[in-house]
Amino acid sequence: MTESHSQHLPVLLDETLAALSLKADGHYLDATFGRGGHSRAILAQLSDKGRLLGLDQDPQAVAIGRQLAAEDPRFAIEHCAFSELAKTVHARLWQNNIDGILMDIGVSSPQLDDAERGFSFLRDGPLDMRMNPESGISAAEWLATAEMQDIAHVLKTLGEERYGKRIARAIVETRDENPITTTKQLADLVDKASPSREKHKHPATRTFQAIRIYINNELDELKAALEQALDVLAVGGRLVVISFHSLEDRIVKRYFRDQARGDDLPSHFPVTVDQLNPRLKLIGKAIKAGDKELAANPRARSAVLRVAEKLA
Ligand SMILES: C[S@@+](CC[C@H](N)C(=O)[O-])C[C@H]1O[C@@H](n2cnc3c(N)ncnc32)[C@H](O)[C@@H]1O
Repeated sequence: MTESHSQHLPVLLDETLAALSLKADGHYLDATFGRGGHSRAILAQLSDKGRLLGLDQDPQAVAIGRQLAAEDPRFAIEHCAFSELAKTVHARLWQNNIDGILMDIGVSSPQLDDAERGFSFLRDGPLDMRMNPESGISAAEWLATAEMQDIAHVLKTLGEERYGKRIARAIVETRDENPITTTKQLADLVDKASPSREKHKHPATRTFQAIRIYINNELDELKAALEQALDVLAVGGRLVVISFHSLEDRIVKRYFRDQARGDDLPSHFPVTVDQLNPRLKLIGKAIKAGDKELAANPRARSAVLRVAEKLA
C-alpha cells in the first residue's frame, strides 16, 4: 500500500500538546516518531531555539524523519529502539535538559496497512511483524522452531487468548509439513483451531497481537523506556504516554503510581510523604478520545493518554 493510502492520523493530538505543556524554547523528545504527526505539531509551537529529537526503530519511519530533519534544523531523528533512549540523549548532552517526552506506543497505521510488514491478518503477506526488520527474528522464524508451551504461553499472557493451547498445538502440528510463512496461513489456522468466536472480532486478533508484542519485546521495551525517560527529564518536565491496550496501560499506570508514591517503605516507618522521595507528580486522569476524534479515526478507540511531571 502506498504512503498516501496509509497516513497515520496522530491520536489525541490536542490533548498531547496540552499535556506536554510546551515551552517555545524547550527541548522535546518524541520517542515514537512514526510518520511525525505529533512531531510536526510540536515543532509548530516551538521557536527557533526550541529543539525536538525523534526516535523510531522502524527504518521507514526514520526515512520520513530524515526528510523532516533536512527541512527543519530544529529537528533531528535517530534510528533506535526507545529502550536506548538514555544512550541517545546522553550522546547529545541533553540529559536533565528535556522539557517533555512523548511516547505514542504500538504499531502505526502504515505498519498495519502494508501487507509486506506482516502485521495484519486482513492482508496477506510475509509473516514478519518486526517493527525493525533489520534486527531480531520474524514471527515466521519464531513459529518455525518455538516450543508448543512457549507459543501457548505467549498467546495466553500477551493476547489473553483463551484457546492459546489449541492454537499452539495446531501451529506445531502443521508446521513440519506446511511451514507457516504468511499472515493468511496463520489467520486461517487460528480460525480453524478456534471453537468459538467473539462478537465483532476476527478470531486471529488476539494471536496476532500476542505474537507482535512478543517479537518486538514491547512490554520490556516500555518498562525500560519509562525508567530512562524519567532519568533524563528536567525537573518539571512532562512525560506523556499514549498506549493502546490494557497490558501496556497497566504498566504505565503502575509505573506512574509507584513513582508518585516514592520509596516503598513499610507503612509503620516514621517518615513524611516528602521523605519518601516521590519522583513524579500525576497530572490529571487518564484521557481517552472524544466522539469527534473517534468518528474521524476509529483507531483512536483504544488509546489512553497518561501524563506525569518530574519532581526531582
Ligand atoms: C503509534 S506510532 C506513532 C505515531 C506518531 N506519533 C505519529 O503521529 O505519526 C508508533 C511508532 O513507534 C515506533 N515504536 C514502537 N515501539 C518502539 C520502540 N520500542 N522503539 C522505537 N520505536 C518504537 C513504531 O515503529 C511506530 O512507528
